[in-house]
Amino acid sequence: MKTITGILAATALTGASAAYAVDLEVTHWWTSGGEAEAVREFAKAFNEQTEHTWVDGAVAGGGNVARPIFVSRILGGDPMGATQFNHGRQTEELIQAGLMMDLTDVAEAEGWKDLVNPPSLLDACTLDGRIYCAPINIHSWQWMWLSNKAFEDAGVPIPTNWDEFVAAGPALVAAGKIPLAMGQQPWQQGGAFNVIFTAVGGPELAERIMGQKDAEAARSPEFLKVWEAAAQARELSANSNVQDWNQATNLVITGQAGGQIMGDWAQGEFALAGQNAGDDYTCLPGLGLQDVLDTGGDAIYFPVNRDPAVTAAQKELAALLLKPDVQVAFNEKKGSMPVRGDVDMASVNECMKKGLDLLAQGGSVVVPSIELRLSADTIAEINDLVTEFWFDPSYPPEEAQEVYADIISRAK
Ligand code: GAL
Repeated sequence: MKTITGILAATALTGASAAYAVDLEVTHWWTSGGEAEAVREFAKAFNEQTEHTWVDGAVAGGGNVARPIFVSRILGGDPMGATQFNHGRQTEELIQAGLMMDLTDVAEAEGWKDLVNPPSLLDACTLDGRIYCAPINIHSWQWMWLSNKAFEDAGVPIPTNWDEFVAAGPALVAAGKIPLAMGQQPWQQGGAFNVIFTAVGGPELAERIMGQKDAEAARSPEFLKVWEAAAQARELSANSNVQDWNQATNLVITGQAGGQIMGDWAQGEFALAGQNAGDDYTCLPGLGLQDVLDTGGDAIYFPVNRDPAVTAAQKELAALLLKPDVQVAFNEKKGSMPVRGDVDMASVNECMKKGLDLLAQGGSVVVPSIELRLSADTIAEINDLVTEFWFDPSYPPEEAQEVYADIISRAK
C-alpha cells in the first residue's frame, strides 16, 4: 500500500499538480488463454513501474461485443481510464467529438515518430495531425493455420496453399475431420472473407475496391472468383459448431480440424498449448497464394478525464506501453509483432519470422488493414452480408457480390 505521505513527498519533489496513485480501469476484449497471458504483462509492468494500479476491465465475446460497450460508456459520461480498440477508423467519431485524449505530447517526448515501425502505424493513430492512441502491436489477419496431425491422419500432404487445402477437403472429411474451423461470430466470417479476398483476388483488387471504393471493380469477374472461393470455404466449415475464435483454433490444435483462417493472435493459443510452429502446426501467410501481410492490430486509447491525476496516470501508461521491455513481454505472449523496429523478440518462431520478413520487405507486400480502409459501420455491414452468405448454402456468390458492390458504392 503506497502511503499518502510518500506520494505527497513525491509530488513535492516532482512539483507535479495534485497527483496521487490512481486505480486506472483498462478495458479490452482479450479473454482467450493467450490473450489473457499477454494483457497480464501490461498490468504487471504498470503496477511495478508506476505508482498506479491497473484495474482490468476484460469484456468477453470479441470486438463486435466489446466495442459498442466501450463506445456507449465513453459517450454516456462513464469513461474508463484506457481502452483497447483496433488502430484505424474505429474511433474517428469519438475523437472528432473531443472525447479522446490527445497524446501528441507523449508521442513527442517518447520519440514515437522515430521508433514506431512501419511509420504508417502511427498514421493509424493520427487524425488531423494529432496522435490519439498508443499503437501496441502489429497483427495481420492474412494467415491460415494448419494442423499437421489432421493431414497426417487423413494421409495427405500438408497443403502449401488454399487450392491444395480445398483439394484435401474430402480426405479430411473421410478421416472424420472438420476441414475448416470457424466460429459463429460475424467478425470471424467477415475477417476470413477479407483474407480470401486479398489472397484469391490479389492485393491490387483489394486496394481498388476497399481503398478506392470502386464499386465497378466489385462487379468484376475477378471479384466473383473471390465469392466462389468463399463458397468453397463455406462448405468446408459447415460442421464447425464452435462459438469463439479460440475454440475454433483449439479444433486445429487438437487435430479435429484441418485449418483455420485467422489473424496471427492465434499463435498465442498454439504457444499456450505448448505447440511448435513447423512441428505441430503450419502457417500460410496470404493463404500461400500471395506474399502479403496487413498492418492491423491494437492500440490503447485514453478517454478525456477531468482529474489531472488521472490524466497524468493515463500518460504514464501510454509511454510505458511502447517501452522495449514491455513491447517484447506483451507481443511474445500475444503472438503479434512489436511496433518498434529496435527490439529483438527472444522467441521468434518460424511463423513470426515469416511475418517479420514480410514486414521487412515492405512495399506492396504490406497492405493496410480493413480498419484503416473502411469505417466501422461499413465493416459491420460487410460482416453481416458475409455471415448471411456463410450460413445459407443456397446464397449465390453472384448475388452476394452485387450486395457487396452496393455497400462499397455507399462507403465513405
Ligand atoms: C482483434 C484484435 C486481436 C485479438 C482478436 C481476437 O480485433 O486485434 O488482438 O483480440 O481481435 O479477439
